[in-house]
Amino acid sequence: MDEQTPKPEPSIFERMRNRLTPDGVPADERGRMRMVMESLVLHIHPAKTDVNSMKWTYTWGLGGLSALLMTILGLTGIILINNYTPAAPQAYLDILEINSNVWFGELIRNLHHWSANLLIVVAVLHLIRVFVTGAYRPPRELNWLIGVVMLLLVVGANFTGYLLPWDQLAYWAITVGTSIISYIPLIGQWLMQLVLGGPEVGANTLLNFYSMHISFIPLAIFGLMSYHFWRVRKDGGLTLPKSSKQLDDPKPERVTTIPHLVNREFIFALGWSAAILLFAMFVPAPLEGIANPALSPNPAKAPWYFMGLQELLLHFHPLIGAIVIPSLAIIAIFTIPFFDLNLKSVGVYFRSQRGRYLTALAIGISLIATPVWVLLDEYVLNWTLWLPTWNTLISNGLIPLAVILLPVIFLDDWIAKKFQADTEERALFNAAFLFTAFIVLTLIGIYFRGPGMSLYLPWNMPVVVH
Ligand code: HEM
Ligand code: HEM
Repeated sequence: MDEQTPKPEPSIFERMRNRLTPDGVPADERGRMRMVMESLVLHIHPAKTDVNSMKWTYTWGLGGLSALLMTILGLTGIILINNYTPAAPQAYLDILEINSNVWFGELIRNLHHWSANLLIVVAVLHLIRVFVTGAYRPPRELNWLIGVVMLLLVVGANFTGYLLPWDQLAYWAITVGTSIISYIPLIGQWLMQLVLGGPEVGANTLLNFYSMHISFIPLAIFGLMSYHFWRVRKDGGLTLPKSSKQLDDPKPERVTTIPHLVNREFIFALGWSAAILLFAMFVPAPLEGIANPALSPNPAKAPWYFMGLQELLLHFHPLIGAIVIPSLAIIAIFTIPFFDLNLKSVGVYFRSQRGRYLTALAIGISLIATPVWVLLDEYVLNWTLWLPTWNTLISNGLIPLAVILLPVIFLDDWIAKKFQADTEERALFNAAFLFTAFIVLTLIGIYFRGPGMSLYLPWNMPVVVH
């Protein structure tokens, strides 16, 4: 080699094999420790990362934030189990003890509570990001499926955790939430009894939920998470737009993962940890009086993430509202990667300028149409009264379902003709429309339903008795 040519820097793998520092000299004790950390990082990340996939505005760090929240939940959960007994009424007394006599107990509980709730929001936003950038397309369809299973498990973890404080809120929210199971045809009643460990929420339910909450569910999530990360690497890193000018570049710019990506991730995790900690220091997790099966609050509401479902139950026969619509939604989400095969715009937010416009249009229409439909159904439409001799599954199930499906089909047809929208853009429009409707229903359920589950304006809401 020419004397003048500088010696190339050893690659990270060469350095690790020969225990060298980045300058190429043998590493001392500290240097070797650092290598252990680096090799840990390289189990998750490749040695080099494309600069485009590191942009905040592409992933918004939502997958990473979900992972951080899972870590906080795991750590705080392990501390909580040391001070908690899954027996009624001891569970409630333990929570009081955690809140008042355990060192940093209230903070740990608040951290667990708020991280759990935030995780649902963040994981759903991550799903939306993946959907609107088309990142579920082959070869990433398996990772999409794993993601959906993880999301269902996260909801399961939240639901089982909800009961553990054993206060009025927990008792009645779980009573309402689990009653949905009973609407499953044929096996509903049996399955509900199995989940509850008896005919109603009681000591057995607490034990069942606790064991699921601290064993199967977190183990499954952490197991799937490792596989999810590994698949991101296996699938060739993050999806990036084929049409972007950076990718037309035959040699996209790649930088070493350590320190470029790792530093960013570290700062991101630190910033979010500080924000969550601050929030948990000042906002206590709710806790009401001890669970009292004899005193039902009015209204009795499910946990907030099931309020969209509870709202649907007010408008449809339970078989349609609680089983058919949610099952169709879950099947649709699971099978998304297998329908939409137009690969040209993978990695581009909303696929195209038209896709962006149609998504905004769908959200706008849904924001108006959903409350209008709720009001109409509450005060004007009364199918069971109009068709008294009809089976309620038809009069209160299939007919209202057809009444809302017809405009949805009409809208889809309209945008296909008027805007020459392709399959991708139509999928985006319909998903945005239905998802917005679900969010609006959830908000109505949380903020606009009062005693008797009647509609109230939030500022006129009578005081709720628990
Ligand atoms: C506990 C929940 C989850 C965790 C911890 C997690 C974590 C991650 C991380 C760290 C990434 C790397 C890029 C990024 O941050 O966006 C990622 C990518 C991905 N995730 Fe998740 N995820 C979770 C849930 C989901 C869900 C609910 C879905 C969708 C149904 C999903 C589908 C995907 C897909 C398809 C990718 C590849 C994206 C691409 O190539 O652009 N994940 N996930
Ligand atoms: C996906 C992960 C998890 C989620 C979403 C989650 C969610 C929740 C929620 C919402 C509560 C009720 C908090 C409250 O209002 O007081 C709770 C309580 C609890 N969780 Fe978790 N949790 C998770 C993981 C864990 C793990 C891994 C453990 C234990 C190893 C654990 C142990 C506990 C205990 C002992 C309680 C009762 C104490 C309390 O209510 O504050 N959790 N969890």
